[in-house]
Amino acid sequence: MRYPLILLLPIAIVISTLGWKESTPSETPAPEIYTRWCSSCHGQKGRDFVDRNWKLGSTEEAVRRVIKEGHELLGMPAYGSTLTASEIDAVTDFIMDQAASKRGFNPTPPQQLESSDLVIRVNTLVDGLQTPWGMDFVNDTTLLITEREGRLWKLVAGQLVAIEGLPEDIHVRGQGGLLDVMHWKDDATGKEWVYLTYSKDRPGDANQSATALVRAPWSSDVESIDAWEELFVARPYEKTHHHYGSRVEIGGDGKLYLTCGERGRRDVHPQNLATSPGKVHRFNPDGSIPEDNPFVSQPDAVPSIWSWGHRNPQGMFRHPETGTIWTHEHGPKGGDEINILGPGNNYGWPRITFGRNYIGTIITRDTAMVGMEQPLYYWLPSIGACGMEVVYGDSWPDSWQNNLLVGSLSFEYLERLHLEDNKVVARERLLEDVGRVRDIARNSTGEVFVAVEGAGTVLHLEPIEIK
Ligand code: HEC
Repeated sequence: MRYPLILLLPIAIVISTLGWKESTPSETPAPEIYTRWCSSCHGQKGRDFVDRNWKLGSTEEAVRRVIKEGHELLGMPAYGSTLTASEIDAVTDFIMDQAASKRGFNPTPPQQLESSDLVIRVNTLVDGLQTPWGMDFVNDTTLLITEREGRLWKLVAGQLVAIEGLPEDIHVRGQGGLLDVMHWKDDATGKEWVYLTYSKDRPGDANQSATALVRAPWSSDVESIDAWEELFVARPYEKTHHHYGSRVEIGGDGKLYLTCGERGRRDVHPQNLATSPGKVHRFNPDGSIPEDNPFVSQPDAVPSIWSWGHRNPQGMFRHPETGTIWTHEHGPKGGDEINILGPGNNYGWPRITFGRNYIGTIITRDTAMVGMEQPLYYWLPSIGACGMEVVYGDSWPDSWQNNLLVGSLSFEYLERLHLEDNKVVARERLLEDVGRVRDIARNSTGEVFVAVEGAGTVLHLEPIEIK
C-alpha cells in the first residue's frame, strides 16, 4: 500500500463530518416539535399559518428568524435556546408547507354529539363571524355577541343586528380588540345597561394599550349607542399586545367583577398592588368603589382590587347557588388554573405556578407558598382555557348539574369537568376539533351556547336523550 492508512484518516473524518452534517435532520419530527412547543398558541396542525396575513414577513428567512428570536411585544417566545438549529429548520419547513397548502380551515360543526351519558343536538345559530369573543343574554330571546375585530351584535329571533357607535379607541392588535360584553338590569331603578370590555389605545399613542370597562344605557330597540361612559382603565398602559383578560360579571353580592391580565409583564404587575394589570377588580355597577373592598384603606393600593397574583383570566361565572365568582386563567406551558375568588386573595403568579415558560425553562420550582392560594384545579398540559360556565337548570339531567364547561383554544374542543365537593373527579372532551372555543354562555333556563373562533360560529347545545 502506497499511503499508510493513518494519512487517510483526516480525509475520512472530513468526509464523514460533511456527510453527518448533511444528514442530521432534526431527531424529532417537525409535527411533533410543533405540537409540543407551538400548538398551544397557533392551533393544531399549523392551521394558524394557512391563508395567513403575515405580520412579521412571509419568507422562509423571516419565519426562521421569528422562531429563533421571538417577538416580545407581540408575545411570541424566542426558541433559539430551546430548539436546535435543525429543529428550527424543520419546524420552519413545516410552517412553510402549511402556508403553501391553501387548505383553509373551516370546520363544519357536528349536528349531534354523544357524551358518555347524553346525546346532544348541536344547532348552529350563527356562522360567518371572525372571532366571536364574548356573549351575554339580555333575555331568552336576545343574545349579545362581541367580535374581537371591533363589532357588537345582537341576535334576535335568529337575525344578527349590528349595534353601531362603539368606542373609537379599540386597539385591535395581537390579542387585543373588543372583548367581553354584559347586560345588566338594575332592579332598584328598572334601568338596563350594556357593559363592554376592550383593549383601549392610550390617548395620543396608539402603540400602547390597556384593558378598559365602559357602559351605556340599554333598551331592546337599541341599534346605535352614542355615549359610552368609561368606568375603569387598568393602568398603566403597556406596549405589549397580549394578556388583557378580560371577563366581566355581576356577583351574588350585586358587585361588578372585572378580570385584567398582566399584559405579559409578569415581574411588574401581578404581585404589585399599586398597578391594575394581573388583578381581578370589584366595583359597584356604576364604577364606584365598594367600601368593603379589601385594599381600600391601604395607601398606594389600587382600591378596586379584589384579588391579585393573576396571569391572564379569560373565564368567569357567578355560581347560581352560592353567588361566588369563579375564574380560570391561562398558565404558560402548563398551569392553567381554576379559582374561586375570595377578597384580598393572592393567587400566586408568578411566585408559584404549576407551569413552565413556553420555551420549557423553569419559572419557579415553587407550587405553594404561605399567603398564596392553591387553585381548585390545574391543567397539565395547558388546554388554553377560555370561557367557562357551570351547567345548571332544567334542561340538563342530574349527572350534568354543577359540571363545568370550559373552552380549549389550544386543542379546539369543549371540556366537561365533573366536580364533587369542588374537586374535579372526571373530565370529558366534547365537540372535538370544532375550532378554538372562546366563550360559553347560559340562558335563564340553563341552555348552553358556545362561541367558536375561526369557524366564527355560535352553537346551541340541546340535550335530547339520556343514554
Ligand atoms: C405563547 C404563545 C405562542 C407560542 C407558544 C408560539 N407562538 Fe408563534 N406567535 C405568537 C404570537 C402572539 C405571534 C404574533 C403574531 C400573532 O399575533 O399571531 C406569533 C408569531 C409567530 C410567527 C410569525 C407570524 C407572522 O404573522 O408573521 C411565526 C412564524 C411563529 N409565531 C411560529 C411559531 C412556532 C414555530 C412556535 C413553536 C416553536 C411558536 N410560534 C410558538 C405566539 C406564540
